[in-house]
Amino acid sequence: MRYHPHNRHFLFFVQPDYEEMSRRAARHLHAKVRERPDLLLCAATGGTPTRAYRLFAESWENHRREVSRLRVVKLDEWGGLPPGDAGTCEAYLREHLLGPLGVTPDRYLGFRPDAPDPAAECDAVASALDERGPVDVCVLGLGVNGHLGFNEPGPALHPHAHVAALSRESLEHPMVRHAAGAPLFGMTLGIGDILRARSVLLLVNGAHKREALRRLITGPVATEFPASLLWLHADVTCLCDADAAEGL
Ligand code: PGA
Repeated sequence: MRYHPHNRHFLFFVQPDYEEMSRRAARHLHAKVRERPDLLLCAATGGTPTRAYRLFAESWENHRREVSRLRVVKLDEWGGLPPGDAGTCEAYLREHLLGPLGVTPDRYLGFRPDAPDPAAECDAVASALDERGPVDVCVLGLGVNGHLGFNEPGPALHPHAHVAALSRESLEHPMVRHAAGAPLFGMTLGIGDILRARSVLLLVNGAHKREALRRLITGPVATEFPASLLWLHADVTCLCDADAAEGL
């Protein structure tokens, strides 16, 4: 049985390859910033959005002032890694988004990887997001297990920013393969923060995401596959490459 007919709330586009998927994603983000210059962008990290962020940053090269009000919130962070570790989401965002776009600290919100009290850190991010939000565009990657950020599969999901136990799939994620130590937990925006975003841009590439994408497109809405909750959202654009979409 197919649960989800194609509909105008969940637009699904297959691009020939990673480069084309990234180009289209960058154009999508560029257009959103033109519409709303103080846009609040929720940024995922990981292998998926890297090229899109690069192209997005490059697209403003001759119009830097037009992107000077962009605001960014970090989707999630590994807990227990040393703050300067190259595996942190913080290091990733500085390299790929915050640095290239010159996002000043007053326009950035994110969990500190070395926060002394992670639960208090999540509460602080939750209340700051409450003031600054909602997110305008939420850029997401798709976990091989269907997670979004560190909203991991399970019998229940958490609406707000919270400390999360990491799944085996997350602990094996390439980002932390060369980290100084294994992450101990995650800090993540909640599924409610994602569903409250005005729009979602979901990026999916590679043959290793094929099964996850198939479950997303054809499976039921269930907390055991958190990405499926995106079917409850009113404005999702899913861009994927042909490798991920093969067989769909
Ligand atoms: P990836 O990670 O972009 O590196 O594939 C996505 C995720 O696991 O959430």
